[in-house]
Amino acid sequence: MERRKLVAGNWKMNGLRADGVALARAVAAGASGGGPRGPEILVCPPFTLLAAAGEALAGTGVALGAQDCHPAAKGAHTGDVSAAMLRDAGCAYAIVGHSERRRDHGEGDALVRAKAEAAVAAGMAAVVCVGETEEERDAGRAEAVVGAQIEGSLPAGASAASVVVAYEPVWAIGTGRTPTPEDIAAMHAHVRRTLAGRLADADGVRILYGGSVKASNAAAILALPDVDGALVGGASLDAGEFLAIARAAG
Ligand code: PGA
Repeated sequence: MERRKLVAGNWKMNGLRADGVALARAVAAGASGGGPRGPEILVCPPFTLLAAAGEALAGTGVALGAQDCHPAAKGAHTGDVSAAMLRDAGCAYAIVGHSERRRDHGEGDALVRAKAEAAVAAGMAAVVCVGETEEERDAGRAEAVVGAQIEGSLPAGASAASVVVAYEPVWAIGTGRTPTPEDIAAMHAHVRRTLAGRLADADGVRILYGGSVKASNAAAILALPDVDGALVGGASLDAGEFLAIARAAG
């Protein structure tokens, strides 16, 4: 099945308004002319920049996404943001279960699933992040860990339209280290098989690789079987570098 590649920038907790708007504009300017057959491009700014970045991206074909959402529709949850609010702010995607949230906020699979379900219910696609630690890989448990995270974190009723899976080995995030191409391909095949056990249209689900993707390694990673795009952290803060990654996907 033909899967359109998705190149997503996760800005994490970076950017004041001027930088964020400039970055969004530069990405949009560089992405124009990619055409419908090029990769889909997504940027995920911090909450404070969603409105301004969304305005800069309006009508450009570059999609807007959030980095998290609360599982509840609304209510007494000081400091949190609901999926409906994010959709209302123009988001088409919400990242859920990023390893930094699993680590910094103790988020487990059940909560990640609830967040993914909230995102989908609000009309967004959920980018569900999974990935093993270095210790788990060294112990030969990487596939078991990732399989269990997928089983535990995927929303009920997940489909190719509502869910994207991002495989991000924790030890590769922000470190400059990446798994070998063989290891990435093996894990993506494992993710695809795991999805096939649960979803009728597993073949259509996009599986992104994330962890130290940059312009210099993107083409090799994006050419691997079952790698349907990239979730890019640090390199997404530089429009030229991010756009080069997007071109490598095209
Ligand atoms: P990185 O982050 O590209 O800076 O390694 C990826 C991510 O955490 O999504």
